[in-house]
Amino acid sequence: MNKVIILGSTGSIGCNAIEVIKGLKDHRIVGLAAYGNYRRLGAQAAQLKPLIVTLVTEKHRGALRKDVGRAKLYCGEDGIEEMIDRLNADTIICAMSSSIGIRGVMRAIEKKMKICLATKEILVNFGSLVMKKARRMRAQIIPIDSEHSAIYQCLEGKNRADVLNIILTASGGPFFKRSLENVKKKDVLNHPVWKMGRKITVDSATMMNKGLEVIEAYHLFDFPVHMIKVVVHPQAICHSIVQFKDGTALAQLSTPDMRLPIQYALTAPNRLRSAVPYLDIARAGRLTFVQPDFRKFRCLSLAYKALEMGRTMPAVLNTANEEAVKLFLNDKIKFLQIPGIIEKVISKHQPRDGNLECYLQATAWAKERVRSLVC
Ligand SMILES: NC(=O)c1ccc[n+]([C@@H]2O[C@H](COP(=O)([O-])OP(=O)(O)OC[C@H]3O[C@@H](n4cnc5c(N)ncnc54)[C@H](OP(=O)(O)O)[C@@H]3O)[C@@H](O)[C@H]2O)c1
Repeated sequence: MNKVIILGSTGSIGCNAIEVIKGLKDHRIVGLAAYGNYRRLGAQAAQLKPLIVTLVTEKHRGALRKDVGRAKLYCGEDGIEEMIDRLNADTIICAMSSSIGIRGVMRAIEKKMKICLATKEILVNFGSLVMKKARRMRAQIIPIDSEHSAIYQCLEGKNRADVLNIILTASGGPFFKRSLENVKKKDVLNHPVWKMGRKITVDSATMMNKGLEVIEAYHLFDFPVHMIKVVVHPQAICHSIVQFKDGTALAQLSTPDMRLPIQYALTAPNRLRSAVPYLDIARAGRLTFVQPDFRKFRCLSLAYKALEMGRTMPAVLNTANEEAVKLFLNDKIKFLQIPGIIEKVISKHQPRDGNLECYLQATAWAKERVRSLVC
């Protein structure tokens, strides 16, 4: 039996992961963690009967207590690490919408657990530290992000030296063909293909999501920045492409449904039947691919720039983006202000290298910087 912990079980990926695991006979959920949605977490605990449940915000500990039954209840950010320490789980699914689980992920790597990673912010902020530790401990990191899952699958069994470049596909978001002037929050949150959490949906509209994915791919696959490309593919059927030096391009295609990359991360290299409808390729219609507009989607350019500068800069970019997106979702800034805020913050940062504390300091600095710019 494969014992699984889910961080972010109440979110879009977390709920899909639970559905996938229910369909896998040899997997069992032993730990669940969420941020503040104690009602949903309580309902999940009552149904799945994990051994430990963690709620990051302490406030609702009392209300959650009765739902968790015999499970142990931990609270706070430290609770995540403690849960990982206590449970002898085999696999962890990281699906929180921020990098607060980083210490837990480092602990899971030390325990040689399999890391199924949806939270791209972990690699964007701390990629070099995480990958270095994973290599040292020989811990497996398998991406859940559909694009990275596609690249991972296309690279399986291939010689890395034969790769020309990797091409991440982007749906283009709701504004691919529309002007960015006067957009309303409801337009931003209305993604044409994927139903996802609010933060990533805003990131898809600015195309920062693709920028973060470029940084994620850089760490996961260890190719130089110039080999990581982006192409807009609005149908979201082709999830990414690897081009080889002989001219061959391998792509992974499927119905756009996150249950598929989640299941593959859990069962790789085996391919089990899933609940996702098979792709009817003849009915998929025309598949189109075009260059992204880097001038319109400035966040994408900023992400490449931050990656080129390296060290703590991607963490600063990501934190500035997280804060700007929160302000936008709370109606404190307009959609078009997001890239300007990020640019101002990264222009003031001197990137440096160091341990986890050094990276955490850089993110704290970026958070403060956004607040001082806007409040
Ligand atoms: N959704 C997708 O299709 C998709 C695809 C690829 C990658 N991803 C990545 O997967 C991650 C999760 O995305 P999602 O769409 O599932 O997000 P989501 O629906 O917003 O769920 C986020 C999860 O994180 C928790 N959370 C909320 N605020 C948090 C905070 N400040 N710090 C840490 N955790 C917090 C939530 O707990 P509460 O419910 O208790 O607040 C929830 O469990 C993101 O990193 C995203 O980029 C998502």
